[in-house]
Amino acid sequence: MKLIAHLLFAAVAAASSSFAFAADAAAPAAHAAAPAAKVKPDLTKGEATYAAVCAACHGADGNSGTPAYPKLAQQHPEYLVKQLQEFKSDKRASPIMKGFASVLSDEDMRNVAYWVAAKKAKPGTATEKSLVLLGEKIYRGGIADRQIAACAGCHSPNGAGIPSQFPRVSGQHADYAVAQLTAFRDGVRKNSVQMSQVAAKLNDREIKAVADYIAGLR
Ligand code: HEC
Ligand code: HEC
Repeated sequence: MKLIAHLLFAAVAAASSSFAFAADAAAPAAHAAAPAAKVKPDLTKGEATYAAVCAACHGADGNSGTPAYPKLAQQHPEYLVKQLQEFKSDKRASPIMKGFASVLSDEDMRNVAYWVAAKKAKPGTATEKSLVLLGEKIYRGGIADRQIAACAGCHSPNGAGIPSQFPRVSGQHADYAVAQLTAFRDGVRKNSVQMSQVAAKLNDREIKAVADYIAGLR
């Protein structure tokens, strides 16, 4: 049942984004140079929104310098739009992001997501020497005897993810990744059945190890 609901949601999300394309196509002038079939998001508008509202926390170029605020640069734009929609609808609970996402229309979300997704991600570094081997093992191979899937299978071996379904994780702040993995495990972040199932079986030490490994992955 959960999976069906998930698929239905994906279908709805897909339908609403193609609706946004249709609305864009109706707007004249600004898009004159774009090919008629696939109108691009308005990156100038996206940049303006980003600079005015988002940069304070997520960094001027999407490479947030604060561990609690995720890096957004080079993330897949469809993933970013999904998160903004889910903050707005409370499917992903965040008292901070709820307010910022709620004032954005579907079109604003697309504009800002495609702008920041086009910025280059700055690589990070792992810091927990004693945990790095455990982190690497989980990331690359999972934990077979506890049916924990390899992260690389979905997030790709170098952590770049697989557009548009599986987000980029490489270079992300370890503290943010720990918080998200813990939230998936404890049922606080409920917007992905797949990630809830993966995280359900990880203990705190394993979460810390794999989050640190991700931070240094490039
Ligand atoms: C006051 C600081 C702050 C501001 C301003 C802010 N954010 Fe965030 N953002 C956060 C925090 C904190 C999180 C992590 C939320 C959580 O715990 O799940 C986050 C998460 C996100 C995520 C999810 C990223 C991921 O990897 O899943 C997206 C997308 C996002 N913000 C986009 C934006 C956009 C676009 C704006 C501007 C319109 C913005 N944020 C403004 C603090 C902020
Ligand atoms: C079956 C596929 C799959 C596997 C295996 C998987 N993930 Fe994920 N992961 C996802 C999906 C899908 C999302 C996006 C969820 C959403 O849409 O909010 C995600 C999201 C995440 C996020 C949140 C990213 C962000 O910016 O907020 C982290 C961190 C993460 N995964 C880490 C891991 C780790 C570590 C492992 C291995 C222990 C792993 N994943 C295994 C599918 C997977």
